[in-house]
Amino acid sequence: MTLKDRVQDLLGQVAGMQAQNAEELEALRIKYLSKKGEITALFNEFRTVPSDQKRELGQMLNQLRQQAEGRLSEMREAMESQIAKAERLDLTRTPDPIQLGTRHPLSLVREEIVDIFSRIGFTVAEGPEVEDDKHVYGMLNFAPEHPARDMQDTFFIEKELGLQKPTDVLLRSHTSSVQTRVMTSQKPPIRVLCPGRVYRNEAISARAHCFFHQVEGLYIDKNVSFADLKEALLYFAKEMFGPETQIRLRPSYFPFTEPSAEMDISCDLCGGKGCSFCKGTGWVEILGCGMVDPNVLEACGIDSKVYTGYAFGMGVERIANLKYRVKDLRLFSENDVRFLRQFESC
Ligand code: DAH
Repeated sequence: MTLKDRVQDLLGQVAGMQAQNAEELEALRIKYLSKKGEITALFNEFRTVPSDQKRELGQMLNQLRQQAEGRLSEMREAMESQIAKAERLDLTRTPDPIQLGTRHPLSLVREEIVDIFSRIGFTVAEGPEVEDDKHVYGMLNFAPEHPARDMQDTFFIEKELGLQKPTDVLLRSHTSSVQTRVMTSQKPPIRVLCPGRVYRNEAISARAHCFFHQVEGLYIDKNVSFADLKEALLYFAKEMFGPETQIRLRPSYFPFTEPSAEMDISCDLCGGKGCSFCKGTGWVEILGCGMVDPNVLEACGIDSKVYTGYAFGMGVERIANLKYRVKDLRLFSENDVRFLRQFESC
């Protein structure tokens, strides 16, 4: 192959040079342009070329070298700019939009309950979750041997052996404990709503949990009657579940109220005709209520000959179930965003 042919051949090779990374690029430079490179070798041979051919061949060789150098630096620049692009931080760029959270369904329901009762004069009162036996049971007229005090129901934190003592420390098992706190620290008229978390020693399942939420209501004044209780609860049911909602009160028993009742609302799934949700009865239970037992008033230092009062207590999860048809109670505390995102955004 003549020198000219070899130059031509290398021109073709140089035009097709490809490198994926810096090492390959360097290998190409060594192959063609280093001291022992193929193009350098041609320059060395050029010295032996007869002078009449030098002009044309010289031009061709220079062109070859320029093309090789040009192509190599082109590839180097492309590589460098790609690396720079990958590493570059553009601090002026607006961030990706942050996804807003949603309100927890239990918060939504609790706030709705508070909102409805606040329109008829109730204010919010709170009490401790770690309580003593006296405020959770004793002052609420629970007999010492009442089964609700049992270890099976109540989480004790400090407990003396034998029958319960007023000073035993426990996790409150209902928000009725806030009643006793309010009645001992305020004078009637009292009209409070006590929302909060309660604890019971239950096995966790779709229908029961070891903690849940309640809203307690208490109204103490002169001449408060059962009719006032019924009126307030009917108003609540219609506000919460719609104007067609009906209520019914069934006699029941709670140590802290006398008389006591449980309230059902008409099933809004079947309109009261009876379906699987209401187990064919047309009614679903939503709360317990009654007239505050005189023993409770007296235990809290309120004269039961002057004052009467009513109380009620409901489960927030229960109301949320009726409103949102959440079949499994555990969903409320598992914080699965797929569940939570279904509710009203912040
Ligand atoms: N404390 C009761 C419970 O946890 C609920 C309750 C029933 C509260 C009747 C009341 C009431 O104030 O009057 O099951």
